[in-house]
Amino acid sequence: MKDENFLKANNARHMWHPMAHPADMHANPPRIVTKGSGVRITDIDGHETIDAVGGLWNVNLGFSNAAVKEAIKSQLDDLPYYATFRGTSNDQVIELSYMLAEFFEPDGLSRSFFTSGGSDSVEIMLRLARQYHKVRGQAGRTKYLSLKKGYHGTHTGGASINGNANFRTQYEPLLAGCHHLPAPYTYRNPFNETDPEKLAQLCLQALEDEIAFQGPNTIAAFIMEPVLGAGGVIPPHPSFHKGVREICSRHSILLLLDEVITAFGRLGSWSGGRHFGIKPDMISTAKAITNGYFPFGAVMISDAVAETFEGDTAGVANIGSGYTYSGHPVGAAAAVACLKETQRLNVKDNAAARGTQMFEGFKALMEKHDIIGDVRGGVGLMTAMELIGDKDKKTPLDKKRIDAVYEATYAAGTMVRVSGPNLICSPALVIEEAEVAKVLSDIDHGLSQA
Ligand SMILES: Cc1ncc(COP(=O)(O)O)c(C=O)c1O
Repeated sequence: MKDENFLKANNARHMWHPMAHPADMHANPPRIVTKGSGVRITDIDGHETIDAVGGLWNVNLGFSNAAVKEAIKSQLDDLPYYATFRGTSNDQVIELSYMLAEFFEPDGLSRSFFTSGGSDSVEIMLRLARQYHKVRGQAGRTKYLSLKKGYHGTHTGGASINGNANFRTQYEPLLAGCHHLPAPYTYRNPFNETDPEKLAQLCLQALEDEIAFQGPNTIAAFIMEPVLGAGGVIPPHPSFHKGVREICSRHSILLLLDEVITAFGRLGSWSGGRHFGIKPDMISTAKAITNGYFPFGAVMISDAVAETFEGDTAGVANIGSGYTYSGHPVGAAAAVACLKETQRLNVKDNAAARGTQMFEGFKALMEKHDIIGDVRGGVGLMTAMELIGDKDKKTPLDKKRIDAVYEATYAAGTMVRVSGPNLICSPALVIEEAEVAKVLSDIDHGLSQA
């Protein structure tokens, strides 16, 4: 390892960071994280904090899971790589596909298609959705519907269905045939509706209206996150999910759930679909599937969609999609170990309990700090507060003041994520009660420094 001076001198000098301005990274180099243990990380200066971000909503079992680390190490010795393109497979990926079929059986999802991460999984889902309709003889169904504020990764298909201008504008023109609907976001919405259930109904009406306008026979799929994550933690009222399922089924539109954050326990249930009582046609997963220790993902496919593909005799169901690293044996070994650990530790129950503690804590902070305009969460361990400069006008808090909150919280001992005006917490699902209490008290301190 190069020495500390070298690392600081070269920090962000020879690389561009994702989701950042290169010049800003030169002016304000990022924090250098050198160690992770349990739910904590340590930076190059030896400052230890609780990682209330959980890596990037992915290190669900914390940084010290020995079983997952060991699985990666021993797989590197046995078979560090081989492809799963037609003609070859490997032992780990076969076992993983069996385990995933069992795990997602209550969701009605029985087949997997492996990828290298969340954006890849989304892309595969979008492609398979169009292909599904072609296999059924409905080649005209090519459009996608999605929610404003939704986040679906940064590939061009994913960015096209993305609902945030930050990830779109500089890359336009994007894919044609992608149409966006208002999100059930009570704090800000075009209907000026603050009641979650009424807002859910209005958003469902907007969905019906858009389907009628586009023509159902032109639409391949509707895609949404069960709880919108990067858009600022927006849990729709549960009636929204059921309504979406019913509308999609009625119009033969596939319902794709982007579960890159929510699968494997984060919502206090093993999947978002199960949490909200609906069965999707496909889901995208990644992140926690390997606890973030290896880049990996999986699309899970429903029995009905699988039957359509597998029953094809014309050859149109041949899957012309795949990555060099699809079904990577090291990723698959990590995922097998991770799934066993996830179930052994039953992390979903702790996610529910600690998520409630975090949400109640955020609400208490809102009573105390005027700069909190809205608090969202209460569905597992995804919690956000929206920071504002003016309560009536809901103007976002000045960036300098948001930075001051972030820095002071970090200095006090907690790493949080700041995304626009939102302060987001999504720690490891194994976090303990006293650790959540410390996160809350550090954020309290940070807010008082704004
Ligand atoms: C819901 C959702 N979909 C897709 C992605 C993209 O995943 P990745 O960054 O692994 O490509 C993310 C990443 O945060 C996500 O939250």
